[in-house]
Amino acid sequence: MLISFEGIDGCGKTTQARLLAEALRAQGREVVLTREPGGSPGAEEIRRLLVEGAGERWSPETECLLFTAARRDHLERTIRPALDRGATVITDRFADSTRVYQGAARGDLRAMVDRLHALTIGIEPDRSFVIDIDPATGLARGTARGGTEDRFERLGLGFQERLAQGFRALAAEYPDRVRLIDGRGTPDQVAARIRSAL
Ligand code: TYD
Repeated sequence: MLISFEGIDGCGKTTQARLLAEALRAQGREVVLTREPGGSPGAEEIRRLLVEGAGERWSPETECLLFTAARRDHLERTIRPALDRGATVITDRFADSTRVYQGAARGDLRAMVDRLHALTIGIEPDRSFVIDIDPATGLARGTARGGTEDRFERLGLGFQERLAQGFRALAAEYPDRVRLIDGRGTPDQVAARIRSAL
Protein backbone atom coordinates (compact mmCIF):
# COMPACT_ATOMS: atom_id res chain seq x y z
CA MET A 1 0.00 0.00 0.00
CA LEU A 2 0.94 3.61 -0.55
CA ILE A 3 -0.37 5.84 2.25
CA SER A 4 -0.01 9.61 2.32
CA PHE A 5 -0.35 12.12 5.13
CA GLU A 6 -1.51 15.60 4.22
CA GLY A 7 -2.55 18.86 5.85
CA ILE A 8 -1.49 22.41 6.56
CA ASP A 9 1.87 23.39 8.06
CA GLY A 10 2.11 22.32 11.70
CA CYS A 11 -0.91 19.97 11.61
CA GLY A 12 1.02 17.06 13.13
CA LYS A 13 1.17 14.82 10.07
CA THR A 14 4.91 14.12 10.45
CA THR A 15 4.35 12.74 13.95
CA GLN A 16 1.33 10.74 12.76
CA ALA A 17 3.22 9.28 9.78
CA ARG A 18 5.91 8.06 12.17
CA LEU A 19 3.39 6.61 14.68
CA LEU A 20 1.58 4.70 11.93
CA ALA A 21 4.89 3.39 10.58
CA GLU A 22 5.77 2.13 14.07
CA ALA A 23 2.36 0.49 14.49
CA LEU A 24 2.60 -1.33 11.15
CA ARG A 25 6.20 -2.41 11.80
CA ALA A 26 5.07 -3.86 15.11
CA GLN A 27 2.75 -6.09 13.05
CA GLY A 28 5.82 -7.35 11.16
CA ARG A 29 5.40 -5.33 7.96
CA GLU A 30 8.24 -3.70 6.09
CA VAL A 31 7.47 0.04 6.10
CA VAL A 32 9.31 2.74 4.16
CA LEU A 33 8.67 6.12 5.77
CA THR A 34 9.43 8.97 3.41
CA ARG A 35 8.52 12.59 2.73
CA GLU A 36 7.93 15.26 0.12
CA PRO A 37 9.34 17.43 -1.19
CA GLY A 38 12.27 15.01 -0.94
CA GLY A 39 12.47 11.30 -0.21
CA SER A 40 15.33 10.57 -2.64
CA PRO A 41 18.75 12.27 -2.99
CA GLY A 42 17.78 14.22 -6.11
CA ALA A 43 14.42 15.26 -4.72
CA GLU A 44 16.06 16.43 -1.47
CA GLU A 45 18.23 18.75 -3.57
CA ILE A 46 15.13 20.16 -5.26
CA ARG A 47 13.53 20.50 -1.80
CA ARG A 48 16.11 23.08 -0.76
CA LEU A 49 15.19 25.24 -3.75
CA LEU A 50 11.55 25.08 -2.71
CA VAL A 51 11.40 25.51 1.05
CA GLU A 52 14.11 28.11 1.61
CA GLY A 53 14.22 31.75 0.54
CA ALA A 54 11.59 34.40 -0.06
CA GLY A 55 7.87 33.53 -0.26
CA GLU A 56 7.64 34.92 -3.79
CA ARG A 57 10.88 33.35 -4.98
CA TRP A 58 9.11 31.19 -7.60
CA SER A 59 5.97 31.80 -9.61
CA PRO A 60 3.19 29.30 -8.84
CA GLU A 61 3.76 27.69 -12.25
CA THR A 62 7.51 27.21 -11.71
CA GLU A 63 6.83 25.90 -8.23
CA CYS A 64 4.41 23.36 -9.62
CA LEU A 65 7.05 22.10 -12.07
CA LEU A 66 9.70 21.83 -9.35
CA PHE A 67 7.42 19.91 -6.95
CA THR A 68 6.43 17.57 -9.76
CA ALA A 69 10.07 17.02 -10.77
CA ALA A 70 10.92 16.18 -7.17
CA ARG A 71 7.93 13.80 -6.99
CA ARG A 72 8.96 11.99 -10.17
CA ASP A 73 12.44 11.31 -8.77
CA HIS A 74 10.95 10.22 -5.43
CA LEU A 75 8.60 7.86 -7.28
CA GLU A 76 11.36 6.35 -9.46
CA ARG A 77 14.03 5.96 -6.79
CA THR A 78 12.13 5.31 -3.57
CA ILE A 79 8.38 4.62 -3.88
CA ARG A 80 8.22 2.24 -6.86
CA PRO A 81 11.11 0.01 -5.76
CA ALA A 82 9.59 -0.28 -2.28
CA LEU A 83 6.08 -1.10 -3.54
CA ASP A 84 7.55 -3.63 -6.02
CA ARG A 85 9.16 -5.60 -3.20
CA GLY A 86 5.92 -5.58 -1.22
CA ALA A 87 6.73 -2.91 1.35
CA THR A 88 4.17 -0.45 2.69
CA VAL A 89 5.15 3.12 1.81
CA ILE A 90 4.06 5.99 4.06
CA THR A 91 4.77 9.41 2.64
CA ASP A 92 4.58 12.70 4.52
CA ARG A 93 2.85 14.68 1.71
CA PHE A 94 2.22 13.65 -1.90
CA ALA A 95 0.24 15.01 -4.86
CA ASP A 96 -2.63 16.39 -2.75
CA SER A 97 -0.20 18.99 -1.38
CA THR A 98 0.46 20.23 -4.91
CA ARG A 99 -3.28 20.25 -5.67
CA VAL A 100 -3.93 22.38 -2.62
CA TYR A 101 -0.81 24.56 -2.23
CA GLN A 102 -0.17 25.29 -5.91
CA GLY A 103 -3.53 24.42 -7.43
CA ALA A 104 -5.90 26.14 -5.04
CA ALA A 105 -4.07 28.52 -2.77
CA ARG A 106 -1.68 30.28 -5.13
CA GLY A 107 -3.51 30.97 -8.35
CA ASP A 108 -5.89 28.89 -10.36
CA LEU A 109 -3.44 26.20 -11.40
CA ARG A 110 -5.45 23.11 -10.64
CA ALA A 111 -5.78 22.13 -14.32
CA MET A 112 -2.01 22.36 -14.81
CA VAL A 113 -1.39 20.36 -11.64
CA ASP A 114 -3.79 17.62 -12.74
CA ARG A 115 -2.41 17.35 -16.27
CA LEU A 116 1.19 17.26 -15.09
CA HIS A 117 0.25 14.61 -12.53
CA ALA A 118 -1.46 12.46 -15.16
CA LEU A 119 1.49 12.78 -17.54
CA THR A 120 4.39 12.26 -15.17
CA ILE A 121 3.23 10.60 -11.93
CA GLY A 122 0.07 8.68 -12.75
CA ILE A 123 -0.60 7.02 -9.37
CA GLU A 124 -2.63 7.94 -6.31
CA PRO A 125 -2.13 6.66 -2.77
CA ASP A 126 -4.37 3.79 -1.67
CA ARG A 127 -5.31 5.91 1.33
CA SER A 128 -4.65 9.56 2.21
CA PHE A 129 -5.11 11.05 5.67
CA VAL A 130 -5.69 14.78 5.94
CA ILE A 131 -5.02 15.95 9.51
CA ASP A 132 -7.49 18.76 10.08
CA ILE A 133 -6.60 21.45 12.63
CA ASP A 134 -7.32 25.11 13.25
CA PRO A 135 -4.92 27.14 11.02
CA ALA A 136 -3.91 29.50 13.88
CA THR A 137 -2.84 26.48 15.97
CA GLY A 138 -0.88 25.04 13.07
CA LEU A 139 0.87 28.29 12.33
CA ALA A 140 1.84 28.76 15.99
CA ARG A 141 3.36 25.27 16.08
CA GLY A 142 5.24 25.81 12.84
CA THR A 143 6.63 29.14 13.98
CA ALA A 144 7.64 27.70 17.36
CA ARG A 145 9.70 25.05 15.53
CA GLY A 146 11.98 27.72 14.02
CA GLY A 147 14.63 26.83 11.43
CA THR A 148 15.09 28.00 7.84
CA GLU A 149 12.38 25.90 6.14
CA ASP A 150 9.65 28.45 6.67
CA ARG A 151 9.03 29.84 3.19
CA PHE A 152 5.37 28.74 3.16
CA GLU A 153 4.71 29.46 6.83
CA ARG A 154 5.77 33.07 6.28
CA LEU A 155 2.92 33.53 3.80
CA GLY A 156 0.70 34.05 6.87
CA LEU A 157 -2.59 33.03 8.49
CA GLY A 158 -4.87 33.95 5.56
CA PHE A 159 -2.85 31.61 3.38
CA GLN A 160 -3.05 28.78 5.94
CA GLU A 161 -6.85 29.27 6.13
CA ARG A 162 -7.17 28.92 2.36
CA LEU A 163 -5.06 25.77 2.53
CA ALA A 164 -7.22 24.24 5.28
CA GLN A 165 -10.30 24.89 3.12
CA GLY A 166 -8.53 23.37 0.12
CA PHE A 167 -7.71 20.16 2.00
CA ARG A 168 -11.31 19.83 3.26
CA ALA A 169 -12.57 20.30 -0.30
CA LEU A 170 -10.22 17.58 -1.50
CA ALA A 171 -11.60 15.14 1.06
CA ALA A 172 -15.06 15.82 -0.40
CA GLU A 173 -13.75 15.45 -3.97
CA TYR A 174 -12.08 12.06 -3.33
CA PRO A 175 -14.31 10.38 -0.72
CA ASP A 176 -13.02 6.87 -1.49
CA ARG A 177 -9.38 7.71 -0.97
CA VAL A 178 -9.11 10.71 1.37
CA ARG A 179 -10.03 10.56 5.07
CA LEU A 180 -10.33 13.78 7.06
CA ILE A 181 -8.94 13.18 10.56
CA ASP A 182 -9.70 15.42 13.53
CA GLY A 183 -6.23 16.63 14.57
CA ARG A 184 -7.21 17.86 18.06
CA GLY A 185 -6.05 16.06 21.20
CA THR A 186 -2.87 14.20 22.04
CA PRO A 187 -0.74 12.51 19.37
CA ASP A 188 -1.92 9.10 20.67
CA GLN A 189 -5.60 10.11 20.38
CA VAL A 190 -5.08 11.25 16.80
CA ALA A 191 -3.09 8.08 16.00
CA ALA A 192 -5.97 5.94 17.28
CA ARG A 193 -8.39 7.76 14.94
CA ILE A 194 -6.06 7.08 12.02
CA ARG A 195 -5.66 3.40 12.83
CA SER A 196 -9.39 2.88 13.01
CA ALA A 197 -9.89 4.78 9.73
CA LEU A 198 -7.28 2.56 8.08
P1 TYD B 1 6.90 19.91 4.68
O1 TYD B 1 8.31 19.48 4.77
O2 TYD B 1 5.86 18.89 4.79
O3 TYD B 1 6.70 21.04 5.80
P2 TYD B 1 5.88 20.93 7.15
O4 TYD B 1 6.43 19.77 7.91
O5 TYD B 1 6.16 22.28 7.78
O6 TYD B 1 4.45 20.77 6.78
O7 TYD B 1 6.66 20.71 3.33
C1 TYD B 1 7.39 21.87 3.02
C2 TYD B 1 6.49 22.89 2.42
O8 TYD B 1 6.24 22.60 1.03
C3 TYD B 1 5.13 22.98 3.09
O9 TYD B 1 4.88 24.32 3.44
C4 TYD B 1 4.17 22.52 2.02
C5 TYD B 1 4.87 22.78 0.72
N1 TYD B 1 4.48 21.89 -0.41
C6 TYD B 1 3.85 22.44 -1.53
O10 TYD B 1 3.59 23.65 -1.58
N2 TYD B 1 3.54 21.62 -2.59
C7 TYD B 1 3.84 20.29 -2.59
O11 TYD B 1 3.56 19.58 -3.59
C8 TYD B 1 4.49 19.74 -1.44
C9 TYD B 1 4.83 18.28 -1.39
C10 TYD B 1 4.79 20.59 -0.36
